Amino acid sequence: MQPSPYTPGDLAREVPGRAIQLAEFEERLSYLVDLKRLVGRIRVDNGPRGYGKTSLLRQYQTRAEARGAITVWVTAGEEVGLIAQLADAISRVTASWRSDTRSRLRQSLQVLTLSVGIPGVARIDAAIHPPVTSTPSGAREFEDVVRMVAAADEASALVILIDEIQAADASGLRTLAYAWQHLQAEGIDVPAAVFAAGLPNSPDVIASAVTFSERIAYRPLHPLSTEAGEIAILEPSLRLGVQWNRKALASALEVAAGYPYTLQLIADGAWLAAERPDPGATITEDHVRIGRAEMQADLEALFRGRWANATAQEQQLMSAMAHIGDGPVRRADIARRMGVTAESLGVPRARLIDKGFIQAATRGSLEFTIPGFAVFLRDLES
Ligand SMILES: Nc1ncnc2c1ncn2[C@@H]1O[C@H](COP(=O)(O)OP(=O)(O)OP(=O)(O)O)[C@@H](O)[C@H]1O
Ligand SMILES: [Mg+2]
Repeated sequence: MQPSPYTPGDLAREVPGRAIQLAEFEERLSYLVDLKRLVGRIRVDNGPRGYGKTSLLRQYQTRAEARGAITVWVTAGEEVGLIAQLADAISRVTASWRSDTRSRLRQSLQVLTLSVGIPGVARIDAAIHPPVTSTPSGAREFEDVVRMVAAADEASALVILIDEIQAADASGLRTLAYAWQHLQAEGIDVPAAVFAAGLPNSPDVIASAVTFSERIAYRPLHPLSTEAGEIAILEPSLRLGVQWNRKALASALEVAAGYPYTLQLIADGAWLAAERPDPGATITEDHVRIGRAEMQADLEALFRGRWANATAQEQQLMSAMAHIGDGPVRRADIARRMGVTAESLGVPRARLIDKGFIQAATRGSLEFTIPGFAVFLRDLES
């Protein structure tokens, strides 16, 4: 008996299918660490829930640390704003630094925290008095902190990682983007970079907060290719001396449909159905079939959670989509089925995209982000 090497619901240990992202990251890392230059564009990898965004960002982090960079990780969307989160995270990761560097940095961090205000209070104030100046609060102070950390002897570079960036507060995004723009414009060699990940609505969220978007590089994550899926299923298994026969592999790949979370679920389900095989065993299509039935319960729990998390209007929209078909559906068809105008779909549509349940497909059509959701909804109502 060997425990499952798969990771449904946990971070992936490896990220097959993301070679392009990793290669681009390595290139920028070399720019940072070898040339000591600022990476002027903020990179945002975006994709639906369960596409492997956090796993990818963690890979970036591991690689950056292996090259001696100091990394700062935040998951946006907590009570405090993005900049306060970053200040806090920087303070934590630099806690063991030499006392002279540390005390100068602590001062700058205090100035920064004061300039972005006490969370909550600052935001109410900002809503009443929208900032009229072009420099968002804290931008200069944040820039100072970035410079100081990037130049410290303790680290080869500073790499800032922001997960769930679509949940960040608008003023935090403005401050971050402005500071980065300014660092870039000054042409000072500051070895620092920002890598972020978020849902597919991240570009919209950022664009509505920040006026100049040319400093941000958006990179959509795609479903896993067949080859990447094969690697994701086979490699962990072969390492434990367990084979998959051809049919079993093909059928698991079909179930996963390129969706990383489902891939981990089905591979894990088959592994359990094969009774946690010993080295020398082979996983067969029967194991995949049994695993599929088992995994259905997990998927349904996820689907049920999404359904319960939607308002009545959002549910109506998703239900209409499910009844039209499994692939992308046109907005006009959804509106017709619901007996409303296409314009009135705007709000529930935007909310569902924000929640990561549906996404825009080609030519203004919409699709579910997880394969199998449409079938689930049809079953729910039959
Ligand atoms: N490249 C990959 N190949 C195979 N499986 C992967 C890959 N990347 C991630 N996974 C798996 O997919 C699932 C989702 O991964 P992860 O949590 O990184 O996604 P996410 O996009 O951050 O999701 P969420 O939007 O819910 O935060 C996990 O079970 C993880 O092990
Ligand atoms: Mg994530």
